[in-house]
Amino acid sequence: MNKLDYFNNILPKKLIPKGQGVAYAPANIALSKYWGKRDADLNLPTNSSLSISLAHLGSTTQISAAEEDSIYLNDELVAPDNLFSRRVFQFVDYFRRGEKQPLQIRTQNTIPTAAGLASSASGFAALTLALADYWQLNFPDNYLSCMARIGSGSASRSLWHGFVKWQVGTKSDGSDSYAYPINTHWDTLRIALIEINTAKKETSSRNGMNHTAKTSPLFSVWPQTAENDLLKIENAIEERDFTTLAAYAENNALTMHATMMAARPALIYLQSETFATIARIHHLRREGLPLYFTMDAGPNIKLLYPNTHSEEIKKLFPDAIHINPFKVL
Ligand code: PMV
Repeated sequence: MNKLDYFNNILPKKLIPKGQGVAYAPANIALSKYWGKRDADLNLPTNSSLSISLAHLGSTTQISAAEEDSIYLNDELVAPDNLFSRRVFQFVDYFRRGEKQPLQIRTQNTIPTAAGLASSASGFAALTLALADYWQLNFPDNYLSCMARIGSGSASRSLWHGFVKWQVGTKSDGSDSYAYPINTHWDTLRIALIEINTAKKETSSRNGMNHTAKTSPLFSVWPQTAENDLLKIENAIEERDFTTLAAYAENNALTMHATMMAARPALIYLQSETFATIARIHHLRREGLPLYFTMDAGPNIKLLYPNTHSEEIKKLFPDAIHINPFKVL
């Protein structure tokens, strides 16, 4: 099955709009990562993943009828031939299926550029929810998560606050590969985003994961390793065991980067300042600070720590963006 068939199967024949559709979706950071696809068209992963959402950092999207298609990002009109605009309207066309319903889309991102975080997860999640609201689709959450997943894999996890698990699924149409929230409040958990370099990366996650899966001799052990890490992290969430959660998240990120570095040619997102920051974190940990990190397909670092050490860590990393992920709940 391809993605057009997937949308066709679940959507009503005719889309009936209301005045305006609107939705917010938070950004998320995976603690056990999605890296590798078993189906590139449907964005079906080789392994489950688990993330934590970033509360007020995310995307708000508004949809309304218009004379012609247009998209505004943070109040600025985006040129129609821009890659971002093309990706968004390509996604909207999976819903419209040739029907003439021109739209104005307005998206506001609260993720600061300095965070070095991609906004595709919160962007496609907010877009999916806002389109569903606009066309009054009333779909169950698992359908919405599958649709967001087709926009961008990690978007399947951005429909909720808190911890979210995206289960790998086994079906070829992807209907069992969706995310759902893990209902746990962990008020003492903190995240900080450290900017190393926020320039646009040369290799997108999409191309990077396909290249790794195809050419890295280490990729064969990745899916099972990631599933094992996820189980440990899930148990750690249940037991509120910060050290286990953070240690497995850190190792999971490093394992993902090891698979990329072994790809041929090598894919290296980490920069010298990334390694210097890792060395600093490890040094601080040896001195007794409960400080761990994770990283995505880029050079930037995300810290994990308990709020018992907030003051000290804010002083050590004054330029980082510190987040209480459960504050919104
Ligand atoms: O959703 P994508 O195609 O941008 O891929 C995201 C990949 C990672 O951020 C590296 C890992 C993850 O699980 O979010």
